[in-house]
Amino acid sequence: MPRQRVYNWQIGRRMLYPYEGTRPRRQFAAVFDINKCIACQTCTMACKQGWTAGPGQEYIFYNNVETKPYGFYPLAWDVKLLDMLGRQTWDGGRYSGKTIFEAAPRGETAVGYIPDKEDFSYPNVGEDEPYGDVAQGDYITTPHRVWHFYLARICNHCTYPACLAACPRKAIYKRAEDGVVLVDQKRCRGYRECVRACPYKKVFFNPHSRISEKCIACYPLLEQGEQTLCIKTCIGRIRLNGWISTPEKAEPSNPIDYLVHIRKVALPLFPQFGLEPNIYYIPPLHVPRGFLYQMFGPGVKEALGRYRAASEDKELLAVLTLFGSTEFWLQRYRLRGDTVLGYDARGKEVVRVPLYEPVYIRPFYDERLQAYRHNIT
Ligand code: SF4
Ligand code: SF4
Ligand code: SF4
Ligand code: F3S
Repeated sequence: MPRQRVYNWQIGRRMLYPYEGTRPRRQFAAVFDINKCIACQTCTMACKQGWTAGPGQEYIFYNNVETKPYGFYPLAWDVKLLDMLGRQTWDGGRYSGKTIFEAAPRGETAVGYIPDKEDFSYPNVGEDEPYGDVAQGDYITTPHRVWHFYLARICNHCTYPACLAACPRKAIYKRAEDGVVLVDQKRCRGYRECVRACPYKKVFFNPHSRISEKCIACYPLLEQGEQTLCIKTCIGRIRLNGWISTPEKAEPSNPIDYLVHIRKVALPLFPQFGLEPNIYYIPPLHVPRGFLYQMFGPGVKEALGRYRAASEDKELLAVLTLFGSTEFWLQRYRLRGDTVLGYDARGKEVVRVPLYEPVYIRPFYDERLQAYRHNIT
């Protein structure tokens, strides 16, 4: 098995990666703002109708939305992985525990497991189920102490994908032009080592075709300069597609670089797994820090502080305003007065959004129509 030492900026150190892959020329990425997700599952259904409505795909959700802390798809996927990985410690921004590659048993690519049929039988387990008890009167007299949040998940198109490294057939590849990770449907023989190795459980075995499949990052749309189906249909406007650079090459006018590297409000999911995943999350404000820390790493406090102050922070507000504003892929943004402008790869303006919605208050009595109006606020 080829092994190399690579630099993973999300864990602040070099690590072992059992494959000879290199970074792509550009990397597909997205930011999801958890605070805005309403679990409407429109994203899930958009993907299902687009890509997984065929035979054998009944249980396959390239995109799913699970309620934390009690929702999972497949069952307890993250709890199991965290348990298998053992003690996870951070020394400031440097991860001092082991990644799934470093903790792998001898002869194996990564720590992992293959979920069974039962694990995929309850896609909405724990939905809307909060953590904690509601004491009598809580909702009336105090802020309530219970919490839950919705975690929307797709394949992370990882910089160091475990699925790809684990396949004995080399049937999974990462495209150099955009970093999208795909299963070659002709090469795959259904060995399922990819399913075992992906810690996010985002490769699915199709029992009808007897080969594996996964999120394709909607590459036919991506190649046309459009954002993915799950992103452009998002009702809560929680998502934004774009390219991500490495930290030292971060471009402040690129919305994704700005959120992840410049302002550091968006964080990777379980960075300690060691895959350098490329879907980034703005963590939820109302959830205990300890829970968020194990899920998004040590940047949580700083991210939340900046996000909380966004209404007074015009530049950050401008980038957040771009979420869900266009179906086109945004390469660059610019703030002009109280308006944010988004540009595509050719520098063409594709969207323009005001930061503040204009408010008009109608007079109580309309002289012209001689009518009273009841403004209900
Ligand atoms: Fe959340 Fe958007 Fe999906 Fe609705 S469409 S569940 S708001 S991510
Ligand atoms: Fe592969 Fe899983 Fe990473 Fe997707 S999330 S690239 S399936 S390891
Ligand atoms: Fe599905 Fe495309 Fe979203 Fe992937 S990017 S989960 S293929 S809609
Ligand atoms: Fe390889 Fe996974 Fe297919 S391990 S052969 S891509 S099922």
